Amino acid sequence: MKNSKINLVLDEMDSSIEMPVWPQYDHREKELLLDVLESRKWWRMNGNKVDTFEKKFAEFCNAEYCIALTNGTHALELSLATLGIGKGDEVIVPAITFISTATAPIYNCATPVPVDCDPKTFCIIPEAIEKAITPKTKAIIPVHMAGQPCDMDRICEIAKKYNLRIIEDAAHAHGAEWKNKKIGTFGEFAIFSFQNGKIMTCGEGGAILTNSKELYDKAFLIHSVGRPKFDKVYKHLELGSNYRMSEFPAAILLAQLERLPEQNKLREKNAKILDNLLKPVEGITPQSTDERVTINTHYMYMFYYDELMFNGITREEFVQLLNDNGIPSYICFPIVSNTDFFKEGKFRSYLSKIDITNIQALPNAERMAKEVIWLPHYLLLGNEAFIKHIASVILKIKEKVLVSML
Ligand SMILES: Cc1ncc(COP(=O)(O)O)c(C=O)c1O
Repeated sequence: MKNSKINLVLDEMDSSIEMPVWPQYDHREKELLLDVLESRKWWRMNGNKVDTFEKKFAEFCNAEYCIALTNGTHALELSLATLGIGKGDEVIVPAITFISTATAPIYNCATPVPVDCDPKTFCIIPEAIEKAITPKTKAIIPVHMAGQPCDMDRICEIAKKYNLRIIEDAAHAHGAEWKNKKIGTFGEFAIFSFQNGKIMTCGEGGAILTNSKELYDKAFLIHSVGRPKFDKVYKHLELGSNYRMSEFPAAILLAQLERLPEQNKLREKNAKILDNLLKPVEGITPQSTDERVTINTHYMYMFYYDELMFNGITREEFVQLLNDNGIPSYICFPIVSNTDFFKEGKFRSYLSKIDITNIQALPNAERMAKEVIWLPHYLLLGNEAFIKHIASVILKIKEKVLVSML
């Protein structure tokens, strides 16, 4: 590590520039939380906040049914379980995603098959999906990466042609649109996460959407240890688990949902401004948006970083410099099959026969895993002065590291 470079800290931020904070809340979260507290109905089975949130979130996404859940990981596991995907089945997933997209099939004793992502949009490549299909393939989990919808036209065509189920992983994409249609109803299920960093949050939480009454009924049973909605006599109709959301997070989510459309607009506006400001910076290449995308929620502002244009400062050092200078930033997800857990085959004993070795070449994902950096979405909720500040910090770091080369 080049010490002289890594210690570089720029001047103090101008006091007129306000750093946006996350999570955000106001009197609405407080009112709704207090409402639950004082009602003494803290459980979804006797309160009304989870039911109301499910109704409103489904309406917002133009879906028929929603089930609020403990988190997005459980939402993926529940969707696969409801579709009966399990032993001997293969599920196609993008190579670059958060690990849960790939572990959910394993939890259901199925095999995740990672395929390559588009080098511009960072979403799964439809042609790569088609190439990976075998007689064992049962489902595709396209991830709307960082809030950018995948090419749902092609993915739906492929699913139809090969009779595959689609579970949209919309953990980053609450309110995103593909060709003016809200994501969430292109397949059998869509899943969402409300974890602390997500664009609407209650700390931990998740949801599934579906348009099928049959799938909704089955998923409801599984998420509630097999019990129907108003059961009082310990009727367990299915093997299930407990993935129920409590009334408190649902209260917070009702308030978060009210704010989401405006925040999505602001992030889109600011992402464009930042794209333009960074255009002239050699060595920084932001994720681009497919022109058919009508709303990109920008959960992460992702960009390639080329260390050669920054005097050899590594990506990790550059991220450190951004953080030292008040711009929170992170490195990209690894390729799912390159995580220690996958490489070492550390599966539960009952899963030990899963063969994850049938993996295509993943050149784009390899580049992303090595070169991509991301900034959290809430930075895009700042005012224009703050967005200019982000670009100016990047430019100043570049100037300083280039001078230090002389
Ligand atoms: C693409 C993706 N899918 C699924 C999840 C899992 O969501 P959760 O953290 O709520 O379990 C995440 C979380 O970061 C994610 O990024």
